[in-house]
Amino acid sequence: MLAIQAVRTGGPEVLEAVDLPVPTPGPGQVLVRHQAVGLNFIDTYHRSGLYPMKMPVVLGLEAAGVVEALGDGVTRFKAGDRIAYNGTLGAYAQAAVVPADRAVKVPDEVSLETAAAVLLKGMTAEFLVRRCHKVEPGQTILVHAAAGGVGSILVQWAKALGATVIATVGSEAKAALARGHGADHVILYGEEDVAAKVAEITGGQGVAVVYDGVGKDTFETSLKSLGRRGVLATFGNASGPAPAIAPLELGAKSLFLTRPRLFDYIATTTELDESAAALFAVLASGAVKIEVGQTFPLAQARAAHEALEGRRTTGATLLIP
Ligand SMILES: NC(=O)c1ccc[n+]([C@@H]2O[C@H](COP(=O)([O-])OP(=O)(O)OC[C@H]3O[C@@H](n4cnc5c(N)ncnc54)[C@H](OP(=O)(O)O)[C@@H]3O)[C@@H](O)[C@H]2O)c1
Repeated sequence: MLAIQAVRTGGPEVLEAVDLPVPTPGPGQVLVRHQAVGLNFIDTYHRSGLYPMKMPVVLGLEAAGVVEALGDGVTRFKAGDRIAYNGTLGAYAQAAVVPADRAVKVPDEVSLETAAAVLLKGMTAEFLVRRCHKVEPGQTILVHAAAGGVGSILVQWAKALGATVIATVGSEAKAALARGHGADHVILYGEEDVAAKVAEITGGQGVAVVYDGVGKDTFETSLKSLGRRGVLATFGNASGPAPAIAPLELGAKSLFLTRPRLFDYIATTTELDESAAALFAVLASGAVKIEVGQTFPLAQARAAHEALEGRRTTGATLLIP
């Protein structure tokens, strides 16, 4: 089968197509024939070495497809089931073996393409708005990179929960997308003073929470934009990792700082299933719509990484095996 390996740490050029044998599922595992693979920013951290990996490695954490074979003891699925997963390495391939208890069934009305586009990014939005910080009606919140994969879902979900959403984006075209998702205010963070704009919009009160997947470039702005007892959820490093700070810096407004990880919020199969149920319910309600902004053949994973890191993607990106 075709698979894409990072052969060493580096830029998108270290991604190489290889021909690997189709793996055999061991006890508790299933073999999934992929229909679509989700591209995520974390894949670039695995490739670049920001999150160290043993190389060479088949990248990718998210895919959807059809169960082709079962290992011993699997009762959760049967052959032919449509499933998706979001935390098992090796997704950049035509098929993969995954632990059955780390995958979920895809509802009939959800396409496998949508499932691959949404499972990791949508569960991230789920834990951020419902569990990491609970978004309440009437709260004003700030979402960075609001036209991106996670950002577009965060904006829509927070609106559905009754929040006023301030969104930041890198271009006018992305601003239009964020408005289309329901953002009440959109700030071009490359051109405008975000904290000053937030102060103006909130009458000096600041926001209840900042969802910050950008990291280094927005960290200071995010802290400045928070109101009293606000929460900074810094959950990604699109511009590089956020800097170190002293706890005393949080003292001026009694702020909370968290650096959450999806996999700590779906650590058990029960949590995984509950997160999936909430995600598929919000999709079924129509409150959150998933946009696949761009699709690449799996063999062109390198071009997909260049586009994602070059800020040229919107919404979710799929690799088609
Ligand atoms: N903690 C977790 O469990 C978890 C789970 C999922 C995702 N994440 C994080 O969430 C963030 C979003 O992930 P995603 O896959 O949905 O990606 P994405 O938001 O679709 O893409 C990243 C976006 O970040 C913005 N950005 C700002 N500065 C950038 C820079 N210097 N280089 C590249 N992009 C920059 C760009 O939007 P603009 O052009 O609008 O600035 C870009 O489109 C990532 O940081 C990811 O690591 C974390």
